[in-house]
Amino acid sequence: MQSHHTRSEHRESLVSNRNYKIWGQTISQLAKTPSNLEKPRAEYSDLEIAGYVLQEHRDDVVRLWEAFTTDRQEVSRYLMDPKRESMVYLLGFHLANQARLAAVLDRSEYRHKLLSQISAAEAVHLMDLGCGSGALSLLTAQELWSYREALDITWEMVDKSAAFLEMAAHGIKLLKPDAHPVLRRQKLDEYLSREVAAGPKDGLVWYQLGYVWNEVSRHARTTQLLMRLLEGGLQKGQRVITILEPASQELAREAMELRDRLVEMGYQMLYPCPHSQGCPMLESKRDWCYSEAVWDRPPLVKKVDRILKIDRQRIGVSAYVFVSPDLIEDGHVKLGKEGSVVVGRPVEKASRDPLLEQKSYLLCAPEVSIDKVKASRHKVELLRGQIYRDMPDIERKPKAAEGERRPPQKARNPNAPKKTFRRDDGASKKPAGTGGKRISRRRDED
Ligand SMILES: C[S@@+](CC[C@H](N)C(=O)[O-])C[C@H]1O[C@@H](n2cnc3c(N)ncnc32)[C@H](O)[C@@H]1O
Repeated sequence: MQSHHTRSEHRESLVSNRNYKIWGQTISQLAKTPSNLEKPRAEYSDLEIAGYVLQEHRDDVVRLWEAFTTDRQEVSRYLMDPKRESMVYLLGFHLANQARLAAVLDRSEYRHKLLSQISAAEAVHLMDLGCGSGALSLLTAQELWSYREALDITWEMVDKSAAFLEMAAHGIKLLKPDAHPVLRRQKLDEYLSREVAAGPKDGLVWYQLGYVWNEVSRHARTTQLLMRLLEGGLQKGQRVITILEPASQELAREAMELRDRLVEMGYQMLYPCPHSQGCPMLESKRDWCYSEAVWDRPPLVKKVDRILKIDRQRIGVSAYVFVSPDLIEDGHVKLGKEGSVVVGRPVEKASRDPLLEQKSYLLCAPEVSIDKVKASRHKVELLRGQIYRDMPDIERKPKAAEGERRPPQKARNPNAPKKTFRRDDGASKKPAGTGGKRISRRRDED
């Protein structure tokens, strides 16, 4: 496998073709045969079957999206039919979550050589807490193998839902047929109390916490046990933690507080923060930190987006990567040259003319300060979570030479409904009439 990380901090092919195929196979092999097939099932490819399954579940995908974006407490009500819900999650959200993590790992590799150095370890144990369809651990394994195919990876998948566990195990088997993932169908507090009592595991352990903190952060016993697990891991050493949470204000701030607890505990920040001190953005209630990525969506993700009437080409996520300090001291993870990180892009309206709007970047600096610098409208835009640097000018399309004729354009159907796609960057454009005030952002999904 060829590694693709060292070239830049930004890559748009965040989900590989192989990964996309595994996703299609999992859907095709676990879903009921769609009722609307026109030919015998065997004549379709897995991805074609996945397209039909998506068509059948389109209303479910919209409903789950609404539950995620309006009130996450409602999600549990949706879980009445776990088998169907896990399939809907796989259809609508699995690949986008992988793309989010891929962007975060790319940046961690670019800055600190995280993956290339971790992949040199003897073995890596992926402990996925609230694993869902296994999106994060499937992606992490592929990313690590892209550095060293011979790396020994083991999986421990924990989830209260049997349907999700079966799905995650199915994906792992497709990725590595001789793998024996450990499946723990347990509530996290039950699992964690046993795990904490058993003491920290030997070897390199990578804890994955994907979109689960917001589900457990109000359960005192679960959070206490989780902190004890991570504390024990820190004492033992050789630990990596990845946390993904929604990019919405409230949940992102909760993730920022969790981040502060972990750096206080002694973990070292690798992403996105340029330091391991307290988060300066927590000081103002109006601020919240999240990352953005732009990706080349596979065809069926574009189809999901059309169903949801959103555009997830730009995705947002509150994401953090930590390591225990021994990994740095032992030279597994090298801290790269630090710069300031883009954590916001405020727009100040100078006049009614949008062309005169002043754009700037909010930067989180290694000296633990938040600074504002002007952004030129003529330069390629930086995304939240990227290191601030001088960017190239935006390429302008050459004007048609005189006498050159533009190809005839298709006549517009005056009755066709207008496409109103929203961007899914967690922030987004201001609707007309909000003046220069900050507007509350829509919740990001899953
Ligand atoms: C939103 S999904 C995220 C799945 C996956 N980590 C990802 O990032 O795509 C949350 C998962 O956590 C599981 N979960 C939530 N609370 C849990 C608990 N208390 N114990 C065990 N699993 C839990 C749910 O069943 C679900 O599969």
